[in-house]
Amino acid sequence: MEISGVNSIKGQIKIPGDKSISHRSAIISSLTSDRVVIKNYLFSEDCIRTIEVLKMLGVGIEKFESNLVVHGKGINKLKEPDDILYVGNSGTTIRLLSGILCATDFLSILSGDKSINNRPMDRVINPLREMGASVFGKDNNKKAPIVIFGNRSILKGKKFNINVSSAQVKSCLMLAGLFADGETEIIQPQISRDHTERMLEYFGADISYDGKNTKIKSTKTLKGKNIYIPGDISSAAYFIVASLILKGSKILIKDLGINSTRNYLLTALKNMGAKIEIKNERIINNEPVADLESSFSKLKAITVESKFIPNIIDEIPILCVAAAFADGKTIIKGIGELRFKESDRISSITTQFSKLGVDIGAKDDALIIRGSKDLKIGEGSMECSGDHRIAMALAILSLKTKGKVKILDSECISASFPSFKYELKKAVY
Ligand code: S3P
Repeated sequence: MEISGVNSIKGQIKIPGDKSISHRSAIISSLTSDRVVIKNYLFSEDCIRTIEVLKMLGVGIEKFESNLVVHGKGINKLKEPDDILYVGNSGTTIRLLSGILCATDFLSILSGDKSINNRPMDRVINPLREMGASVFGKDNNKKAPIVIFGNRSILKGKKFNINVSSAQVKSCLMLAGLFADGETEIIQPQISRDHTERMLEYFGADISYDGKNTKIKSTKTLKGKNIYIPGDISSAAYFIVASLILKGSKILIKDLGINSTRNYLLTALKNMGAKIEIKNERIINNEPVADLESSFSKLKAITVESKFIPNIIDEIPILCVAAAFADGKTIIKGIGELRFKESDRISSITTQFSKLGVDIGAKDDALIIRGSKDLKIGEGSMECSGDHRIAMALAILSLKTKGKVKILDSECISASFPSFKYELKKAVY
């Protein structure tokens, strides 16, 4: 992808369906015995992997325009796959499905691309084993490929105090807990995204949740209902920040998911002085949704405390773009988890942003950015390490270049936002 500097972005931006909710909608609908229509499903590489894996498990799934139709089978009717379940680059697919596959009565093997097979999987393998599951992983049970000998009858509910605030880990254990004997309780240090809780509740599971604490009991039947997937705030983030840093910009985003366990970026940007307005707030399928308007703003530096990181975890790269144009020193604390994402994001952000002239560094699990509204962005070829969020953050930063920036391997953007380049081209002036 080649980017030249632009003056502003304007108009209505079409943000695709939420990635986290799309994965969950396909997976959880498969566990019902109903036909579920999922409107505005995100047909991105990651969410397509979830569909393909579910099909290999015998679930009937059809695409109909921008909708997905899932013919739920119930857990007992999933079938043994003929081959390895390939999850590509998708952490949500592998971690959530691990929980479910422990409750089947067959063998399955989950594997992914080079990045996935090097990311930590002991965070799901260890607690699943504590529930009694027969699950193994490469490198002494630390990584994928993951091998699972499904056996529902040995799964026992348990109380977990886990040391990482990860929605993928929590969701994996909740999905295993849905089929385990007794109650499964998960307590995390900070609140992580609660889409699984909301969807299971919407489908009638025996679940309760309050902040950092989630409890689930074995549930006989889930009642499938149709779902509308709101726009993904993690994808909207790129356009919101672009509108704040480019003079004369003003954009509108409709039907955006604004779940409070996901929206700390909006709070952080508002603390920086961003003009962001939320309108028409409503609840759709147990998820908060609204319309958003944002426009060019004079930004000032802020400090983001560690406790908020799970609620802005995927937006740190684009927050760093805003910080680069905010007067003063922005500090983002407690970012250790960024090392375990699609790339080591601390290293990707600091090396690539510095190449473009941003004053950025990492120290003691904090990112420090010295920003200025007058920052001049350089040019050259950037590497995104196969990480969609790094590629899109670099693209937005490059809108301020005086020359040309080339982003190598930018196809990885299709993991979450296949129409990114198209929407950007349409919006620039
Ligand atoms: C996700 C949870 C987060 C996030 C990822 C999607 C989810 O990962 O970074 O992009 O859908 O549950 P962690 O659970 O590893 O923090």
